[in-house]
Amino acid sequence: MTPDTNVRKTVGLAADRQQSFYGRDIVSVRQFTRDDLNYIFTVSDEMRSLVHRVGATDLLKGHILANLFYEPSTRTFASFAAAMQRLGGSTIPIHGVQYSSVSKGESLPDTVRSLACYADVIVLRHPEVGASEVAARYSSKPVISAGDGVGEHPTQGLLDLYTIYAELGTVDELNVTMVGDLRNGRTVHSLARLLSMYRVNLTLVSPAILRLPAQLKQELVDAGLSVRETDRVENVISESDVVYVTRVQRERFEDMHEYEAVRDSYEITPELMANAKEKMALMHPLPRVNEIHYDVDDDPRAAYFRQMENGMYIRMALLAAVLGKA
Ligand code: NCD
Repeated sequence: MTPDTNVRKTVGLAADRQQSFYGRDIVSVRQFTRDDLNYIFTVSDEMRSLVHRVGATDLLKGHILANLFYEPSTRTFASFAAAMQRLGGSTIPIHGVQYSSVSKGESLPDTVRSLACYADVIVLRHPEVGASEVAARYSSKPVISAGDGVGEHPTQGLLDLYTIYAELGTVDELNVTMVGDLRNGRTVHSLARLLSMYRVNLTLVSPAILRLPAQLKQELVDAGLSVRETDRVENVISESDVVYVTRVQRERFEDMHEYEAVRDSYEITPELMANAKEKMALMHPLPRVNEIHYDVDDDPRAAYFRQMENGMYIRMALLAAVLGKA
């Protein structure tokens, strides 16, 4: 959504935090300030307590969300739908665009323009980097990215950061270790950018071909983050406060031999966890394939299912804020 197509879109800094989300697209974590993050996390805490107390409210009654997914999803799709419904709103689910006019050759701008006539907010997952910016340009209603190819996944980045706060009480001064497919993992890209707003020591663990893109690494270093790279998680697990594990993104490989060579590079096992700090958080955006052994699930430091639940509270907060009702 562009300022000239809708005056509700807020440009620049607004004194009131809610005002800075109202009518706004969410396409990259780069758009957030620390105050924005604190605001969304405070509202998410309220959403959590609301759901625990009464389950649902009618804050967004009469509002409609279009959930437009060009790629597979379980958590993001379902948690946006649940978030909208717990706030009293409803959804238009387009999951599997093969059943929509996209399969007739309709362009993204036209699809988005159409949905903007019916819905008050559009959540978009798309395989191309930058697709959410394109959609936002053509939509008269706010667009929230649910992941654009190997680019970003801003709402996942928010829920990941919120989980670090929830698990460890702080973000500053932590040793955060990211493991796996750092090249293609869009959740890694969003979370790393968010972490660069804090005083964090970042360790990147991946095989050589799955390193974080050089440009993004430079961006983090320029923002003042301490960044080091290694290919062995065993060497760094004992000093990590957060271990953020990711799936090797099979769908992003052109050469399946290359995928086969790196697919099982890492597995977090109970034996490995025995060397980790007593107070730390083991995270994963999910879905997992083989990166975390099932025997780790009962470890109190295994935070990935709590992390997943946090996603609904974050998305409730974002929907309420974007629709001006937080
Ligand atoms: C992630 C994604 O789609 O980028 N999933 C999610 O939204 N939680 C991670 C992944 O698919 O590996």
